[in-house]
Amino acid sequence: MIPLAERMKLVSESITLAVSAKANAMKKAGIDVVGFGAGEPDFDTPAFIKDAAKAALDKGQTKYTPTPCFPELKAAIADKFNRENGLPYKPEQITTGAGGKHCLYMAFMAVLDPGDEVIIPSPYWVSYPEQVKLAGGVNRILRGEESNGFKITPAQLQAAITPRTKVLILNSPSNPAGHAYTPEEMKALADVMVGHPKVLIFSDEIYEKLAYNGLKFVSFASLHPSLFDRTLTFNCHSKSFAMTGWRIGYIGGPKYLIDAINKLQSQMTSHITSFTQMPAAVALSDPRGAESIEAMRVQFEQRGRLMWERLSSLPGVTCVRPQGAFYCFPNVSQHFGKKEGEQVISDAVTFAAALLEQKHVAVVPGNDSGFDTHVRLSFATSVAQINKGIDRIADFLRSLA
Ligand SMILES: Cc1ncc(COP(=O)(O)O)c(C=O)c1O
Repeated sequence: MIPLAERMKLVSESITLAVSAKANAMKKAGIDVVGFGAGEPDFDTPAFIKDAAKAALDKGQTKYTPTPCFPELKAAIADKFNRENGLPYKPEQITTGAGGKHCLYMAFMAVLDPGDEVIIPSPYWVSYPEQVKLAGGVNRILRGEESNGFKITPAQLQAAITPRTKVLILNSPSNPAGHAYTPEEMKALADVMVGHPKVLIFSDEIYEKLAYNGLKFVSFASLHPSLFDRTLTFNCHSKSFAMTGWRIGYIGGPKYLIDAINKLQSQMTSHITSFTQMPAAVALSDPRGAESIEAMRVQFEQRGRLMWERLSSLPGVTCVRPQGAFYCFPNVSQHFGKKEGEQVISDAVTFAAALLEQKHVAVVPGNDSGFDTHVRLSFATSVAQINKGIDRIADFLRSLA
């Protein structure tokens, strides 16, 4: 076999893949699996956005477009940032990519030199550390404690910054724990960062629209003029508009960084898919966009509350109340050391595997997010499924000895 590139050794095999592959195989075999694994809305893309895509195809928008997109989309994104987030980006300060994931990857590639440190608060979205490693950076995980709702404190942040720190990642509301910072808490983190002018901030705001319990969302770059000049603000259509498969992500930021990302993109993918660009602009500017988001948000809030209440009442389970996104992240470690048949439950992976095997409920172990004591459950599913799945988890916990 001809050897692969050295860099392939840097990327970890996802330990959660085995669980999701098994869940899919069970479903295919006709087993009634309750799936709490999916990180995507169970709603369809709003009809007016799909209609705009059909119109784009009919108009012949099937050819190459400028890098990274049509000017209309850049203008619609800049307008959204100005109107909704208080971020005065101009169209030339906007770029797009094939989903939030691709945007983040391009950004790491554009700014990291070997050995540059990236501070990642945990629990974190699984792809951050992998992307950082691929770009030559070094991960510095900053643990968010469950007792503090998984949020890092200003003192912790201050202590974590070294002369090698190049980037701080913030993700609020967050995947996998559903936690979110209040405007005051964000401001306190911003005050720390004002004192570190050599550090860039990547603010991943893709769950911005999914905030609950009256939480007010605030964009990090809006908190101080000096932070606006060194923050990249990431967003996408995936979660808020139920458009995960469309692969539309975007970034606002300082022009020199956006230019660098565009340079990379011009040699990688050129641009995002031609006939998704005008619908992406319409989604942001048509009032029906905001209406559909709000309708979904209300549903998610109700389901999240139900899931959190039910999880919190299970014996030996603690769960931080989700403030956003669509995830609960319960701590199941009180059950570690117990047995399911012959199998010892020793961490979140063995817990998830036994739960799937015995009770046909799919959850994501927190190991890939920096917490081997927790599992992630998505509440982007119906109330009936939530109740059924948690009934089964209750049975499972009772069966452990
Ligand atoms: C925190 C976070 N950032 C970025 C992404 C990537 O989003 P996309 O599907 O648009 O690539 C995800 C997707 O799950 C996410 O949870």
